[in-house]
Amino acid sequence: MVEDLLEKQNLSGMEISMLLQAEGADKTKLFEKSSQIKSLYVGNKVYFRGLIEFSNICSKDCLYCGIRKSNSEVERYNLSYDEILDAARFAFENRYGSIVLQSGEIKSPQFTDRVTTLLKKIREFSDNKLRVTLSCGEQDYATYKQWFDNGASRYLLRIETSNKELYKKLHPNDKNHSFEKRVECLNFIKSIGYQTGTGVMIGLPFQTYEDLANDLLWMKGFGVDMVGMGPYLEHKDTPLYAFRNELLPESVRFDLSLKMIAILRIMMKNINIAGATALQAIDKIGREKAIKVGANVIMPNITPGEFRNSYKLYENKPCTDELPEDCKACLEMRIALTGNTIAYDEFGDSLHYVAGHNL
Ligand code: 5AD
Ligand code: FES
Repeated sequence: MVEDLLEKQNLSGMEISMLLQAEGADKTKLFEKSSQIKSLYVGNKVYFRGLIEFSNICSKDCLYCGIRKSNSEVERYNLSYDEILDAARFAFENRYGSIVLQSGEIKSPQFTDRVTTLLKKIREFSDNKLRVTLSCGEQDYATYKQWFDNGASRYLLRIETSNKELYKKLHPNDKNHSFEKRVECLNFIKSIGYQTGTGVMIGLPFQTYEDLANDLLWMKGFGVDMVGMGPYLEHKDTPLYAFRNELLPESVRFDLSLKMIAILRIMMKNINIAGATALQAIDKIGREKAIKVGANVIMPNITPGEFRNSYKLYENKPCTDELPEDCKACLEMRIALTGNTIAYDEFGDSLHYVAGHNL
């Protein structure tokens, strides 16, 4: 009985798999439960994180990703300090509590220093009143530490899948793409003291319900503070596109993503969960649906307009033609429709991190 499962303190992998397959009245009960828990533990609030995709240059070749190194169809860009700082200032002036600086993965002393300089400048103009999240891939311990010491307080690094064998199928088989390294980096990030964020793609080729259930158990076991997860979307200029005929229909991947969010909210009541932009690529009100079933963070894209089209991890990425101001007005209306309020001027730190344990 779904009702009984929804009251359990600890769900097993098998029970999570069952919930992932809930339909009809059972699915409604799942969503009602997760929505109640959200409102009880983190409130009906949505935090904005202004997302700045500051470079799409990447040294990696993940088989699913549109900006992989070997994709020569992408025009590569690298925003200037001023472009990045202007976007950060936009977020600050519009009372977003925080920003996310995201890029392809580059490991070099120059890159490390560039990010450090950015962090210093952001701290300066905002008088330390803007939380900065970094999402710049795998780095060494010293780099993560340097960035933390210079003002980054959160780090996002998706595990992509917690199934090591599946991870191997989605990445080239070399030491630049190792599952163990990914886990090691997440451990570095956590031990340094970052609010630690991870996530997975949902509906990947070869992925099973059991894998997805294990992903959620993995997140709980690791003790993540923040999660962003969404549907896998095929990109025609990537090797994984060859398996497009084996995918679940988009609508099923979408639905599964909502269920993953809802179940995770029940399992980890006080974490921050983002409604991934990939949800909106499938359904025009996808992120809002995620907010309704348990997500409490949205990452409006504030990358300067002319570059947004070149940061396509997947196709049909939404809002690539909009200006940040347009997205803001549009989002305000969208959030109002979910019955949530936008928490302007609040950092929105993960309560899981603040409390130091899972509820
Ligand atoms: N579909 C959905 N998500 C993707 N990502 C990369 N490529 C795709 C895709 N084709 C996600 C990965 C990565 C994050 C930045 O974007 O999970 O960690
Ligand atoms: Fe970007 Fe609506 S959220 S235009």
